[in-house]
Amino acid sequence: MSAPLYQAPKGVHDILPDEHLYFSFVKKVVRRRCREAGYRRISTPIFENAEVFSRSIGDSTDIVEKEMFMFETKGDKKVALKPEGTAGVVRAYLEHNMSQWPQPVELYYIEPHFRYDRPQKGRYRQFHQFGFECIGEADPAIDAQAIYLAHKINLDLGIADRLTLQLNTIGCKECRAKYKEDLINYYTGKERSLCVNCQQRMHRNPLRLLDCKEEDCQILASMAPKFENAIDEACKEHYNLLKDYLKELKVPFVENSHLVRGLDYYTRTVFEFWSKSEGAQNATGGGGRYDGLIELMGGQSTPAVGYAAGMERTIEYMKEAGIRPPNKDAVHVFVVQLGLIAKKRSLSLLNALREQGLNAVGSMGKDSIKGQMKVADRFKAKYALILGQIEVQENTIILRDMQKGSQEILPYDSIVDVVSKKIGVSKLDKKKLWEE
Ligand code: HAM
Repeated sequence: MSAPLYQAPKGVHDILPDEHLYFSFVKKVVRRRCREAGYRRISTPIFENAEVFSRSIGDSTDIVEKEMFMFETKGDKKVALKPEGTAGVVRAYLEHNMSQWPQPVELYYIEPHFRYDRPQKGRYRQFHQFGFECIGEADPAIDAQAIYLAHKINLDLGIADRLTLQLNTIGCKECRAKYKEDLINYYTGKERSLCVNCQQRMHRNPLRLLDCKEEDCQILASMAPKFENAIDEACKEHYNLLKDYLKELKVPFVENSHLVRGLDYYTRTVFEFWSKSEGAQNATGGGGRYDGLIELMGGQSTPAVGYAAGMERTIEYMKEAGIRPPNKDAVHVFVVQLGLIAKKRSLSLLNALREQGLNAVGSMGKDSIKGQMKVADRFKAKYALILGQIEVQENTIILRDMQKGSQEILPYDSIVDVVSKKIGVSKLDKKKLWEE
């Protein structure tokens, strides 16, 4: 087969129906668990003024320096496709005066995001995140609950035992300033042993040197001064309480003093879920506390904590674990018809079957029974209903079990009931739809 004339741009993908089974299932679990925990859904625009991201994520981060899709509008405003969800949620929190809402404000999102990353396994230029933000509470019990919610979602999706929760504290602005100084002192004179990236980051963002993946940088990082010597009492207490709460909630974690996260807004708690087989390379999700961000974005000092996970990576791990989400798209019944009167009748039959909650398909464009049965096979329909001229005259219909290959003739008027009982679906109750 020759290559198609057009293909999706590098690093972006179509989500085909089989893949959507996973996306729908992940969304369902996220919606349910977030709702139970008091979160309500928010959607922020796909693009924002670029400053919303550069200011919050940090000018010297990889995301802002290298990975933002930026463009100018006709009015010369610089806008960027959103590379993550927290900045937009904080902008919306301030714009809609949510500090006046009952506190804390708990919001969740399921959205596409964009990063000009080098495409590779688990790294795309358009990807999807689900995430949640709890704004307005500083207590470490809130951090523990946020982590518990993320863990619970991983459990529901069947991937929790393939992941480890990596946990660290990076302290507040003050203890971090002291620690940065310690790090710069330590790395001074060792610049030549660092990778080019780390050499550039050393003075701007020395914390990032701790989680560089290059071997030489890792060796140096393993001997770097520990944060324990720089952390103040209040931040230490916050961290110790968080660990106690996680033990109480029975969430297993690994302490990792090199975990710093790639976004500048974090304070105190940081955490990531790493794959047991792939390590830091392809974390499914990460988050932490960002007590300074709302003030930085022009609001009052307001504590907050949040988390986001990549849906593509989550789905990858579900597949590795052999998880198959329920296939709600499966075709239950395929209607085969022969002759004009039968075709007319099959139109109302298809509607009646669908009203009863069955996934029902018919191939109106094909005339021969053989041709239509072939299509029924390709759709992997469980049953075929065959309606020819004789059946219409006798008010009957043939029910064929496609797997067994057996068939029986039944009264036409009973068929919707018979098939729905066999499949085990019930009529779509419109009232129920509103109550659910
Ligand atoms: P993040 O660690 O930058 O955090 O992204 C969270 C997750 O998004 C990652 O763990 C990964 O699964 C997924 N992800 C990131 N980039 C890509 C990519 N290029 N391709 C595929 N998946 C990707 C944040 O975004 C923070 N906003 C999380 C947060 C919320 N912190 C506080 N609240």
